[in-house]
Amino acid sequence: MQPFKYIDNIPNHELISKKVLEYVTKYHADLLESEIYWNNLPLDNVLDHIPELIKVFKDLNLTPNAISLVITTDDNGGPHIDALKGIRFLWPVKNCKNSYTRFLDIDPNNVGIEQLPNGIIYYYSTLPPPYEYIDQVELVRPIVMNPQVGHEVILDKDKNTRMTMTIGFDEDISYMLE
Ligand SMILES: [Fe+2]
Repeated sequence: MQPFKYIDNIPNHELISKKVLEYVTKYHADLLESEIYWNNLPLDNVLDHIPELIKVFKDLNLTPNAISLVITTDDNGGPHIDALKGIRFLWPVKNCKNSYTRFLDIDPNNVGIEQLPNGIIYYYSTLPPPYEYIDQVELVRPIVMNPQVGHEVILDKDKNTRMTMTIGFDEDISYMLE
């Protein structure tokens, strides 16, 4: 199983990204200034405002169960493994061109737990870096990713924040990484 794959069959993904940013700007403006890494959004409300997303999931036969905004800054995108299990979509929203999600060989048997102020937990390596490079992806269109593979975020060098949307599903979508 690969750590990520581009999803190639969403021709309107840029329009959807634009609509997500408009939605966040209008209804969750506090998040535009947020430095909290992981922010859950109200799923049904997002889908009500962005019917194009409903069509994407319908065409792929997928049932979304969570949509969250991941905001990466200079301070919070270091190497980690997500505690939340399951293969997910990662979708560019803002400042994603020239930014990378880089996959690293982090041993899941040598990790500690870190908890964000909002209760979200993730695992970080208790072994010192560097970690062996596996692959990286410029987030210029949506990807499927396995967040149980170690990863870090490399920001565009001219930007100090990156906003992405991550989507979880009822279905096991590991087949999309075959
Ligand atoms: Fe992560």
